[in-house]
Amino acid sequence: MNTKPNSKFVFSVILLCAFLESHVSIAADTIKENHSLSGDQTIVSAGGMFELGFFKPGQLSNYYIGIWYSKQVVSESTVVWVANREIPVSDRFSSVLSILDGNLVLFNEAKTLVWSTDLNSATSSGSVQAVLLDSGNLVLRAGSSNNTSEPLWQSFDHPTHTWLPGGRLGFNKITDHAQLLTSWKNLEDPAPGLYSLKLSLDESNSYILQWNRSKQYWTSGSWDESSHIFNLVPEMRLNYIFNYSYVTNENESYFTYSLYDPRRVSRCSISALGQIQQLTWLDSSKQWNLFWAKPRQQCDVYAVCGGSFSSCNPTSSGSCKCLKGFKPNRQRDWDLQIYSGGCSRKTSVQCGNATSTNGTGDGFLEIHRQLLPENKQQYGYALSIKSCRSICLNECHCTAYAYDSIDGCSIWHGDILNLREPEENDGYGRTIYIRAAASDIKKKRLIKPSLVIAIVSIFTGLPLVIFGYYLWKKTLGRKREHRNRYGVTINKLAAGGERNDAELPIFGLRAIIAATNNFAEANKLGEGGFGPVYKGILAENQEVAIKRLSKKSGQGQQEFMNELKLIAKLQHTNLVRLLGCCIEDEEMILIYEYMPNRSLDKLLFDASEKTELDWGGRFRIIEGIAQGVLYIHKYSRLKIIHRDLKASNILLDGALNPKISDFGMARIFGINQIEANTNRVVGTYGYMSPEYARYGHFSEKLDVFSFGVLLLEIVSGKKNAAFYRFEHSPTLAGWAWELWKDGRGMEVIDESVRETCRLDEALKCIHIGFLCVQEAPADRPTMSSVILMLQGTDSTSLPPFKEPAFSTHRNSTPVRSSQTPTIFSHNTVTISLPEGR
Ligand SMILES: *[C@@H]1O[C@H](CO)[C@@H](O)[C@H](O)[C@H]1NC(C)=O
Ligand SMILES: *[C@@H]1O[C@H](CO)[C@@H](O)[C@H](O)[C@H]1NC(C)=O
Ligand SMILES: *[C@@H]1O[C@H](CO)[C@@H](O)[C@H](O)[C@H]1NC(C)=O
Ligand SMILES: *[C@@H]1O[C@H](CO)[C@@H](O)[C@H](O)[C@H]1NC(C)=O
Ligand SMILES: *[C@@H]1O[C@H](CO)[C@@H](O)[C@H](O)[C@H]1NC(C)=O
Ligand SMILES: *[C@@H]1O[C@H](CO)[C@@H](O)[C@H](O)[C@H]1NC(C)=O
Ligand SMILES: *[C@@H]1O[C@H](CO)[C@@H](O)[C@H](O)[C@H]1NC(C)=O
Ligand SMILES: *[C@@H]1O[C@H](CO)[C@@H](O)[C@H](O)[C@H]1NC(C)=O
Ligand SMILES: *[C@@H]1O[C@H](CO)[C@@H](O)[C@H](O)[C@H]1NC(C)=O
Repeated sequence: MNTKPNSKFVFSVILLCAFLESHVSIAADTIKENHSLSGDQTIVSAGGMFELGFFKPGQLSNYYIGIWYSKQVVSESTVVWVANREIPVSDRFSSVLSILDGNLVLFNEAKTLVWSTDLNSATSSGSVQAVLLDSGNLVLRAGSSNNTSEPLWQSFDHPTHTWLPGGRLGFNKITDHAQLLTSWKNLEDPAPGLYSLKLSLDESNSYILQWNRSKQYWTSGSWDESSHIFNLVPEMRLNYIFNYSYVTNENESYFTYSLYDPRRVSRCSISALGQIQQLTWLDSSKQWNLFWAKPRQQCDVYAVCGGSFSSCNPTSSGSCKCLKGFKPNRQRDWDLQIYSGGCSRKTSVQCGNATSTNGTGDGFLEIHRQLLPENKQQYGYALSIKSCRSICLNECHCTAYAYDSIDGCSIWHGDILNLREPEENDGYGRTIYIRAAASDIKKKRLIKPSLVIAIVSIFTGLPLVIFGYYLWKKTLGRKREHRNRYGVTINKLAAGGERNDAELPIFGLRAIIAATNNFAEANKLGEGGFGPVYKGILAENQEVAIKRLSKKSGQGQQEFMNELKLIAKLQHTNLVRLLGCCIEDEEMILIYEYMPNRSLDKLLFDASEKTELDWGGRFRIIEGIAQGVLYIHKYSRLKIIHRDLKASNILLDGALNPKISDFGMARIFGINQIEANTNRVVGTYGYMSPEYARYGHFSEKLDVFSFGVLLLEIVSGKKNAAFYRFEHSPTLAGWAWELWKDGRGMEVIDESVRETCRLDEALKCIHIGFLCVQEAPADRPTMSSVILMLQGTDSTSLPPFKEPAFSTHRNSTPVRSSQTPTIFSHNTVTISLPEGR
């Protein structure tokens, strides 16, 4: 069972509680000489944006002086700066932040100095005061000066983990001092962690992320002064929000940024897990929206699992697990903190004693499907796997080897830091052999019989369960005729039999366990955004897809059931059908009809398989998707906005008819849950409309936008996400638009159908695609006009379109400052309210 979300939830509750301890603002923005701050006193910036005082980030009684957004601005506690990162105080009521000898200083309960602005008192003689500004900057000024004078010291020059708008991040050429953004050690310890961001000292004007101040694992690419972006951060092209600028002179070089709309709340932070993230506060949903994160995948962060012998799994939002035969270095950790200490051997290995014949020597654990760490030594191609193995076995510090016909024999010494499971598009990964004590390798086998027994007992128990179930149903059936559509009778329903409108079939957990062979890995069809999906076989050999929700619904069980019942009523040839559900113990499981041909992306983006999809098939798929989306928008009894329309959510049946999956998830999870999984927002970056990316605002036109992207993908056979890596056209639409402008629209069409397609149809589809991905929601057609256009024969009558959103640089759209989040917050975020028809 996946319990991570729970512990995450518990953690945030604790964190929140820690913050709910009330702070008593002393109603000033300034700490003056002979004034001091202590206990729960805080100062608040003049405009009420930021607050400064003692805070406690974790469970321990460790207090720090920090700056955070005031509750009126950002309701989620978010610290942006920490003074005494390394040395906490334990009693805030007897600790004091005050002005002393021209410095701002912090004394702990023992009256020991733990932190200071460290100015030479000679330069700051006379009285000084510390003022918290609305930018989040804490400045120290001479008491006599006014607010236009250069500060003696400012927190913006000493950032911790967050770079706020108006702040500078660069280096001082005179002192050679580089400003670093340094991650927290973990979620509850602000002490400097292993990850940091800084301006590179070479000519490229790029930012780099480093591990342990040495190992570089990401770069922003060089700064392009003409387009005001970093080459490897294409998201910055959406910079009608941010105004980045680079300043260099004989004294210093730095970047700074501002927001075009000063009312917007945004920050750039380095996470405890080594990602640099730009986050924007969504007032409508009261949460931080991840605008972009780098590296994009959590697993791409160097040594993210914290130490040796663990592997990062990119599909479960970047979580780490120990390799078989290894145990976590720490038993229990906060939140995602399986990342932390890495893993260690249960039994230590014997150094170099390879020839131990009595079976107590070392052996190798075989770990399949891994992308291998980089610090390997190559031992040539001529060697066989056997000699590769013995080289490793005979070397005292060899920890692993791998062998294949391409790279030959590879050997690793010391820590195995960056193992990760491949993503869908990374290929299959390779097998790595990790040295382990013979006893650890054997242990694995000892576990098996008990597993077998467990599985066998589930199976033998099943007939009893089913028998008991029939008995129960019989008695129930006598009492209430209409309550008879449970469990095993599902076959009739799925086969198209009549369906009782009032009921959603409910399955027992045991039936689900039996159907999926206890959620066996072999039955796993994939990992959706809401949890893994398994193939299941119900009684009478009916195949179903079983989605095991990994998150808690934001709603109570009754509301959850009500939503499910409503969604189960949505029935259309182009929607995947919800057949039933199971809510038992902690489990929430949805049962859908099974689609043998899996999802569209698997077919469309695979060079060898895409040939199966001729133009006729593609056009039918396009039409089908359009019909399905129209149905959920317009003709169903509820109005549903899908919000996550993409190729992997289009499933294909045996005859390649498209069926949309995952609709209604936003309803099931409550409005905020989708964005809450931050990786996900970035993951589907290419399908998000600008107003959604900017404001979290969605309407039917969000789905129209995503449909347009999907349409272009189907015609071109190119994956939108693939464009994301290249600098010239950040999106598929941008690329297609460049070709189209030059009269080369035909080149947009997938080569594998270019010769055989109906050219007029294909060009029409591209045109419609462009209409759908326009910047302004009002310019995009509705789904019903999309369908009219698709079915129409006269492609000359299609309306003209404007340049696609996100296609080029920031000047593609004027900044409309009237588009503030508050304008959108009421009328449009209505998805959670059923709209009866
Ligand atoms: C602070 O206190 C000292 C002694 O108590 C006094 O001499 C000084 O003038 C005070 N400063 C201010 C700004 O009030
Ligand atoms: C700020 O102080 C300086 C001298 O300290 C003075 O010249 C300037 O006029 C003052 N500005 C304002 C806005 O008070
Ligand atoms: C400086 O102070 C004056 C008056 O106190 C105020 O009007 C002005 O907005 C302040 N300027 C800044 C940059 O804070
Ligand atoms: C980081 O680097 C220092 C030397 O610069 C080294 O002593 C330390 O062990 C390294 N930390 C880790 C976690 O590898
Ligand atoms: C962007 O920032 C620079 C430097 O801070 C400023 O000069 C420029 O006017 C800003 N541009 C806009 C459009 O606000
Ligand atoms: C660089 O520093 C010197 C000495 O502090 C100063 O005179 C000069 O104006 C500075 N140059 C710039 C461009 O700020
Ligand atoms: C390995 O073998 C050598 C002698 O061949 C012995 O001295 C050493 O103690 C052995 N090491 C272990 C860990 O058994
Ligand atoms: C196996 O051999 C090792 C040395 O090679 C020895 O230390 C150990 O006691 C032996 N174990 C058994 C069960 O004979
Ligand atoms: C689709 O599924 C059917 C039935 O499983 C299979 O025969 C067919 O080959 C599949 N087509 C593709 C393109 O995968």
